[in-house]
Amino acid sequence: DEIEFIRAELLSWYDKNRRQLPWRERASEQDPNKRAYAVWVSEVMLQQTQVATVCDYYNRWMEKWPTVEQLSRANLEEVNELWSGLGYYSRAKRLHEGAKKVVDEMKGVMPTTATELLKQLPGVGRYTAGAIASIAYGECTGVVDGNVIRVLSRLCSIGAQTSSNQAVEKFWELANKIVPEDRPGDFNQALMEFGATLCTPSSPKCNTCPLRKQCSALKQVEEHRTAASLLL
Ligand code: ADE
Repeated sequence: DEIEFIRAELLSWYDKNRRQLPWRERASEQDPNKRAYAVWVSEVMLQQTQVATVCDYYNRWMEKWPTVEQLSRANLEEVNELWSGLGYYSRAKRLHEGAKKVVDEMKGVMPTTATELLKQLPGVGRYTAGAIASIAYGECTGVVDGNVIRVLSRLCSIGAQTSSNQAVEKFWELANKIVPEDRPGDFNQALMEFGATLCTPSSPKCNTCPLRKQCSALKQVEEHRTAASLLL
């Protein structure tokens, strides 16, 4: 059916087009606790900063504090110093606080479900919790960010008010419905990356899009074009 089509096409697009990013290597680390920490740091850095900028910061951070335990022993001054230039310093502060909490109250073991991550870690919202749970632990849970909203709304032609609370709830429902059991983390990253590089805000590459047959926004555009050409 159409959900299966979208899953298969997005995953195969991702397999061919995924970028080599430093956190993706670390997300395939053996130890799940290390994976979760690595994804956590990357997702917090990526919250308000572009991928290209994040890479160097991420590598420096992970070299300095490769584990949650090491981060918990850092002091806020050195954390801020490394963060310098990334902006929104409260993100760094919360990461550091979170690391201390994991070490002091959870024996150094990160929570392992989206629900617990959301509940326990400061600065971790629904999106970050879903990203860590799906990418690091393989939990079948969706994520919604701006890219995901754009891709899903185009595919399903959800038109107006995509930013109302009610609409955002719909996107979470949809994201949770569409995420596949077998590769939830890859699928979520595929959606984000697809939105960031192909289904972009103002110049989507519809000509080469693997989902073009399923896209109701494109269908609408084509219908308008056909109607217009009949009038010429
Ligand atoms: N933006 C936010 N999270 C991301 C991820 N895991 N990969 C690529 N871009 C992202």
